[in-house]
Amino acid sequence: MKRIAVLTSGGDAPGMNAAIRAVVRTGLEQGCEVFGVEHGYAGLIAGKFMELGARDVGGIMQRGGTILGSARCPEFRTEDGRTKAIRELNQKRIEGLVVIGGNGSQTGANSLAAAGYPVVGVASTIDNDLYGSEITIGVDTALNIALETIDRLKVTASSHQRAMLVEVMGRDCGYLALMAGITGGAEAVLIPEYETQPEEVAREIWRAYQRGKPHAIVVVAEGAKPNAQGLAQYVQEHGARLGFELRVTILGYVQRGGTPTYFDRYLASRLGAAAVEQLAAGKHGVLVGIQKSEVATTPLAEVVAGKKPLDPRMLELARVLAK
Ligand code: F6P
Repeated sequence: MKRIAVLTSGGDAPGMNAAIRAVVRTGLEQGCEVFGVEHGYAGLIAGKFMELGARDVGGIMQRGGTILGSARCPEFRTEDGRTKAIRELNQKRIEGLVVIGGNGSQTGANSLAAAGYPVVGVASTIDNDLYGSEITIGVDTALNIALETIDRLKVTASSHQRAMLVEVMGRDCGYLALMAGITGGAEAVLIPEYETQPEEVAREIWRAYQRGKPHAIVVVAEGAKPNAQGLAQYVQEHGARLGFELRVTILGYVQRGGTPTYFDRYLASRLGAAAVEQLAAGKHGVLVGIQKSEVATTPLAEVVAGKKPLDPRMLELARVLAK
């Protein structure tokens, strides 16, 4: 393999730049010319390629986001869009592609693989909802940002004896909320995987005050039912009876913009390098991720069909440690 390309797609994740750097430098080591594709699949369709040398990826590892840019690209979901993309790749004589991204991006990679194009995915999303990798690039940084917020909120919550709702990202997956809840010492966690009645949450908060806590922190996943807004409305309507004040903080995109942690840089470096090694060995149509702490591959078809379950023991741990 003499010419390969790399793109980042979907929601950006801290660590993507370290993965790009690893792809470029491992590719050069393997004797390849390496090209970056701008703005994910949109750039692939538009033929936006730029050659990347070792110096072009210097000093990017510590930067959040992605130097290549990212996009969500509806056109790539059409056969016409994918045909255009493959035409561009062939015209530029690119023999293999590395796709750094989460579920939507790997679904795109799988359709390229199904069309016979050599592609390898790298597991990257802050949501940690990708089948085939226990942990994905960006999760650690996003969680550390959530933790810093929770720690700060606890300070002001304790001063006022207030309850605080913190909404974290994660789309339909409760992983970020659950892990932030455990490690941030939340009194309750609400995740999409389990529906909770607002009255139950109010009771948890009330019980925390009864146990002598000066505050109550509830971490809510953005996809939870009810979500933070729904809960806040309930508390507002029943405030007099419940007997506590509540404030809401929605973290949102703040979680995506951080400086990648050591863990994310290391993970991204390993996965980016492994993706190129797969291509060089003639192995493709797979996602490169982490299983049992080792780099492992999973066929993309399995990745897109699979659903990564939450570990129910973590829910129990969150409940027990909230005493
Ligand atoms: O998948 C990453 C993520 O940040 C989710 O947590 C969130 O629901 C979504 O992307 C937001 O998407 P967009 O960047 O398209 O608004």
